[in-house]
Amino acid sequence: MTQEWVPKIVDTSVPSGARTYDFLLGGAHNFAADRSMADQVEKAVPGIRDAARLNRAFLARAVRLLIDQGIRQFLDVGSGIPTVGNVHEIAQQHDPDCRVVYVDRDPVAVAHSELMLSGNERAGIAHADMRNPESILASEPARRLLNFDEPLGLLFLLVLHWVPDEADPRALMTRYRDAIAPGSHLVITHMTDDAQKDKIDTVAGIVRSSRGDGQVFPRSRAEIAALFGDFELLEPGLVPTGTWRVSGPGDITDNTEMNELSYAGVARKPQP
Ligand SMILES: C[S@@+](CC[C@H](N)C(=O)[O-])C[C@H]1O[C@@H](n2cnc3c(N)ncnc32)[C@H](O)[C@@H]1O
Repeated sequence: MTQEWVPKIVDTSVPSGARTYDFLLGGAHNFAADRSMADQVEKAVPGIRDAARLNRAFLARAVRLLIDQGIRQFLDVGSGIPTVGNVHEIAQQHDPDCRVVYVDRDPVAVAHSELMLSGNERAGIAHADMRNPESILASEPARRLLNFDEPLGLLFLLVLHWVPDEADPRALMTRYRDAIAPGSHLVITHMTDDAQKDKIDTVAGIVRSSRGDGQVFPRSRAEIAALFGDFELLEPGLVPTGTWRVSGPGDITDNTEMNELSYAGVARKPQP
C-alpha cells in the first residue's frame, strides 16, 4: 500500500539517497528499497548513523556561526527530507526575519519541505538539480526571498559527492561562488576516502549497485578545498566533520572513525 504523502512520480522500488539518509537519521519518509540500502551500508560500516548525526550537528553549528557573522539569508542546496534542526528553524529562532531557500531534486524531499514550510512566508523550496545553478538562482523562491547583492549563506552539505568529475564540480562551484556577494559564506561537507578508504569504497559500491538515483564520488581534502576557490576558510579550516568547532556531546562520537568519513568547512567570500 502506498502512503498518501508519496508523490505519484516516485518509483518506491528504487532507493534514493535522500530517503536512505532520512532512514539513517531515524526518519519515517523512506521505503523498503531505501531501508535495504541503508541496512547494507550499516552492516558494512557499523556506526554510519553517527556520521549522519555528526553532519546534522555540524549544520547547526555552521548556521549559528553565519548568524553571528550577520548573515540573514540562506540557500541550502541538496537540503534533503526535513528532519530535526533544519536551517530555517535554527535561523528564524534567532531572527524571524531570516530567509531560507531549500533546493533538492528528490520529489519526496520537495513534497515534505513544501508541507513543512506552508505558512512560512520567509522560507521556500525549489525542485531543481544543483548541476544547473542558473535554474536555482532564477527559481521562484530564490527571486522572492534572496537578494544576491547582499551576503548570504550558501550550504552544500553531503551533496557535492553526488557530482561526478566529468560534470566538473570545480567549474560548477565557480558559477555559484561568482553569483554571491562579498561577505557571503560557503559551507560544505563532503565524503572523503582519505582516512577510511575501505569503508568508503564499500559504501560507494553499495550505492553504485543499488541502481538508485545516482552514484557517490568521495574526494581528497585537496580536491574538496579547491571547491572553495579563493574564499577564505574560517578556523579551524577544512577538517573532519566531527572536529569542527565542537561544543557539546551531541557534536561528537566515541566512534572516531565516523569523524573521518567527511570533511567540513566554512569560508567567506573576500571583498574584491
Ligand atoms: C545525504 S542528503 C543531505 C541532506 C542535507 N544536506 C544534510 O546534510 O543533512 C543529500 C541530498 O542531496 C540531494 N541531491 C543529490 N544530488 C542532487 C542534485 N544533483 N541536485 C539536487 N539535489 C541533489 C539528495 O536528493 C539528498 O536529499
